[in-house]
Amino acid sequence: MAWYDANARIMPWRVGPQARRAGDTPDPYRIWLSEVMLQQTTVAAVKDYFHRFTMRWPTVTALAAAADEDVMAAWAGLGYYARARNLLKCARVVVADHGGQFPTTRDGLLGLPGIGPYTAAAIAAIAYDLPETVVDGNVERVMARLHDLHLPLPTAKPELIEFARRLTPRQRPGDYAQAVMDLGATICTPKSPACGICPWRAPCAARSEGTAQQLPKKLPK
Ligand code: ADE
Repeated sequence: MAWYDANARIMPWRVGPQARRAGDTPDPYRIWLSEVMLQQTTVAAVKDYFHRFTMRWPTVTALAAAADEDVMAAWAGLGYYARARNLLKCARVVVADHGGQFPTTRDGLLGLPGIGPYTAAAIAAIAYDLPETVVDGNVERVMARLHDLHLPLPTAKPELIEFARRLTPRQRPGDYAQAVMDLGATICTPKSPACGICPWRAPCAARSEGTAQQLPKKLPK
């Protein structure tokens, strides 16, 4: 967490560790929108779209009232258009069935259109600071290396989720979830990980075995 306090990436939807400590809380609408956009799309590509969406539709209630064709046009270029259709469907369910407020638990969030286990856990952890386990590709890679697990993906997935679950802290779970993702995106990268400056270099089993670069293994598609 000390590493995250000093190195958290700045993102338009993020409440940084200092601001969070000062009592700022993230807007669940912005966390949800960013997480849906970030599925299959890079942070760099998402930033402009995120700004445009939130300028035009600052709340889930505003988005729910948008015309379908306006949202589809604003999404153009992000790809995977089912995400945009589900986005609108979800916004309308939040307004119609939840009074315009996102549910405040992982299970409540899972009941919404387009929200699967990853997104539900991410919103619960990041927006509500609940100790949910958030596992994306970054976290899978970090866990495989930390434990030097050579079992290939996707077979290894349940074990990687269990590793991640056991490490999830009760203190600052929202910052922790983002810290592991940032670690995977900036230090524990797929190629040439920067093990020398990694805050987890001491406990990392792949670092001591010299196998970090080969992990996680993947079954051929
Ligand atoms: N990728 C997807 N969501 C993210 C987040 N909240 N922080 C860092 N990387 C992410």
